Amino acid sequence: MKLSYYEQGTGQTIVFLHGFPMDHTFWAEIQPRLSPDYHVVTPDLRGFGDSPSSDEKTTMETYADDIANFVQKQFPLKIPFVLCGLSMGGYIAMQFVRKYQHLLAGLILSDTRTKPDPENIAANRKIQAAKLETEGAAPLVDSMLPRLFSPWTLENEPEIVQKTKKMMIRQPIHGIAAAARGMAERPDTTFLLDSITCPTLVVCGEKDTTSPPDEMLEIAQLIPNSTFVEIPKAGHLPPVETPQHFTDVVRKFLQNLR
Ligand code: MLT
Repeated sequence: MKLSYYEQGTGQTIVFLHGFPMDHTFWAEIQPRLSPDYHVVTPDLRGFGDSPSSDEKTTMETYADDIANFVQKQFPLKIPFVLCGLSMGGYIAMQFVRKYQHLLAGLILSDTRTKPDPENIAANRKIQAAKLETEGAAPLVDSMLPRLFSPWTLENEPEIVQKTKKMMIRQPIHGIAAAARGMAERPDTTFLLDSITCPTLVVCGEKDTTSPPDEMLEIAQLIPNSTFVEIPKAGHLPPVETPQHFTDVVRKFLQNLR
């Protein structure tokens, strides 16, 4: 699997994993803010952006394997590196921790969960995946949008909402369906939290209803060496809703790694 990616800057490597159904441009506001001081790498996950896929279903483990292979091949001298995953990117980051923790200098879990889907949500994902071929991505994206942003963003930042929507709608149908099926079957990774040994930042938007702050605080409390930060005004997507604040939080974490 050859992943498409974008890289900018030099120094400590940070690999950013986007959410569902998105691509590396999700990080467009973060990459230039950090790249004066860091080597920022934003891959397109398998089946998203320009990364190919012929999978019927892609498990979170497979995405994690892709990232491990990619970094070891492209940037062997940049290991250990920092991994940041948002939402689905965080589900993948937890699978990465399970198999490849030895490659990590630090971990950032943003707006994500370690619990699996409740049965009804998993079933709904499978139905949505089947419908994608006939209906396209628009109905799925429209159903997701209201839960992605805080009320503040929805009211004050319509351009951000529209730009994010466009990015989601242009993702390949096949890749979206494979990810939805993979997420529906993702395992509980809560048991892994107390085995995370690298410094970890747990960050989320204060108005995130998908991975709410109280659930993320519980995640942070189970990780031995972790910091928890809540970002005011943001919902499920702080890197696009409040990019400067998100960058400041990540930068502070990275500075403390030194
Ligand atoms: C995401 O942002 O990646 C999605 O909200 C993940 C999900 O649907 O569970």
